[in-house]
Amino acid sequence: MSKSLVAVFALLAVASAEHFYVTNNNTGLACIIVDGDFMFNLVFQEGNATQKYNVLLNNTLNVDGDCNAVVNNQSVQTLSITFNPAGQSARYPKEWELNLVFGTSSNEAFKIIDYTLKTQKTDLVPYFGTFVRDEKDAGDVTATETNAYKCSTAKLGLVGGSTIDIKTANIIAFAQVNGTVFPANQLYDVCYLDARTSDVVPIVVGACLAVLVIVVLVGYLIGRARAKRQGYASV
Ligand SMILES: *[C@@H]1O[C@H](CO)[C@@H](O)[C@H](O)[C@H]1NC(C)=O
Ligand SMILES: *[C@@H]1O[C@H](CO)[C@@H](O)[C@H](O)[C@H]1NC(C)=O
Ligand SMILES: *[C@@H]1O[C@H](CO)[C@@H](O)[C@H](O)[C@H]1NC(C)=O
Ligand SMILES: *[C@@H]1O[C@H](CO)[C@@H](O)[C@H](O)[C@H]1NC(C)=O
Ligand SMILES: *[C@@H]1O[C@H](CO)[C@@H](O)[C@H](O)[C@H]1NC(C)=O
Repeated sequence: MSKSLVAVFALLAVASAEHFYVTNNNTGLACIIVDGDFMFNLVFQEGNATQKYNVLLNNTLNVDGDCNAVVNNQSVQTLSITFNPAGQSARYPKEWELNLVFGTSSNEAFKIIDYTLKTQKTDLVPYFGTFVRDEKDAGDVTATETNAYKCSTAKLGLVGGSTIDIKTANIIAFAQVNGTVFPANQLYDVCYLDARTSDVVPIVVGACLAVLVIVVLVGYLIGRARAKRQGYASV
């Protein structure tokens, strides 16, 4: 099992999306690339009240990962990010930690098979604990062949109703990318929700065209019938 070299790429103000990658230091190729904006929708009990907080990943502190890990005899790849959530003051300078585990199978080039979020108390969020994957709401972050995954909002459900939302998500794992960003010719599998939305436009256009054809046809038949009645030779 070879450990991998890991790097943080702090993207400056221009593009707000975060950029993470893990490089296999045996091959020099990136096995994981994750781009997107991370928002954590946290729900938990405080006393008798249900509290809800939306927290953004703001300041990445460290990125770690492994292109050749094994869990339960299964080959996996891991990405571990420590960060400060937005709105955290120096009063509680503790790190939050997000762990993503990617698996692979005969049907899927890769798939997010596990994830956890460890929180610490901050000025905004009075909760420290570990949120774990909700297997009934584990999202669809997966792709086939050498494709990456693309989604306007990828959701990873957590037990208790919390979610990890990755906006404008572009994700790949079990890849062999020469470089640390998605190649220009990268193909993407679009997530289920986006694919359904993008189906709507062609369906509407198709329906309009069908109506137009019917209207023209009916108009033509009526015209022909009328012409016949008036004794003109028909076309
Ligand atoms: C690969 O990474 C591990 C741990 O980060 C390090 O100990 C090792 O020296 C690296 N190997 C190479 C070839 O850079
Ligand atoms: C919480 O609920 C319990 C039982 O409903 C009640 O006895 C207790 O006073 C409540 N505590 C607070 C802080 O509201
Ligand atoms: C892993 O595989 C080996 C050999 O196939 C087997 O002996 C072992 O029990 C397996 N371990 C687990 C945790 O499944
Ligand atoms: C985000 O992180 C930067 C750099 O640490 C910090 O200056 C800024 O105040 C943080 N923003 C929020 C909303 O916490
Ligand atoms: C990656 O690309 C560079 C520049 O095109 C090339 O020199 C290098 O050999 C490539 N590395 C691998 C492992 O393919």
